Amino acid sequence: MKGVILAGGLGTRMLPMTRVTNKHLLPVYDRPMIYYPLQQLVHAGIRDILVVTGGDSAGDFLKLLRNGHDFGLEHLRYAYQEGEGGIAEALGLAEYFAGGEPIAVLLGDNIYQNPLKEAVDAFRRSSSGAMILLKEVEDPERFGVATVDGDRVVEIVEKPTHPVSRLAVTGCYLYDPRVFDVIQTLRPSGRGELEITDVNNRYIEWGEMQHHVVSGWWTDAGTVESLRRASNLVAQDRGNVVLNAPTTS
Ligand code: G1P
Repeated sequence: MKGVILAGGLGTRMLPMTRVTNKHLLPVYDRPMIYYPLQQLVHAGIRDILVVTGGDSAGDFLKLLRNGHDFGLEHLRYAYQEGEGGIAEALGLAEYFAGGEPIAVLLGDNIYQNPLKEAVDAFRRSSSGAMILLKEVEDPERFGVATVDGDRVVEIVEKPTHPVSRLAVTGCYLYDPRVFDVIQTLRPSGRGELEITDVNNRYIEWGEMQHHVVSGWWTDAGTVESLRRASNLVAQDRGNVVLNAPTTS
């Protein structure tokens, strides 16, 4: 399985902090935000990782992460998203990299307390269809919200005004290679983006979507308030093996 970290976007919810840098390079406690998803993928045993980014600061990712040696990797790959076409469009840039293998996708602004390895391993065993990671939250209207009936995911609604559940769809997605065919068929949403929720709903229609409820805390760090929360949560969790995985510099 290969890994993809999506770290593009303009970060407009975080201006002026993102005027001269990319959101995913901002600090969360003691390291740049992008370190957390990278450490998670490495911890889950994924060695071949693509970082998709864009905008004026794309070169800074290369300066920061270099060849991934600090994370114990042999190499890192990069792709550049032209424009602001959304998460699913960014993921589409990973097709050549994926080369027909299943992929683990992480949004660059999502931070998980506990390892994702268990979910990744469960998906590795089946390796077909897709899997989403869910977490009960107090503010579901900020996220994709899932309706679940027993083992089955029934539907995901992106940022509903009146959420039918408190189960947020977190920013870790596991897909078989058909994901790239699905992306080709998408149309832009109301916010002018190709939505990852539309990709996930396609797998749900096919009856091929698994889900896993995340243990421990989870937060995004893509707004001023959630960035502060993320820093506080990481600071309170200094013994955590994934969050504080040593890097060589
Ligand atoms: C994106 C997804 C949303 C998901 C969230 C997790 O939202 O569209 O479904 O719940 O990430 O962080 P965005 O950050 O684009 O608002």
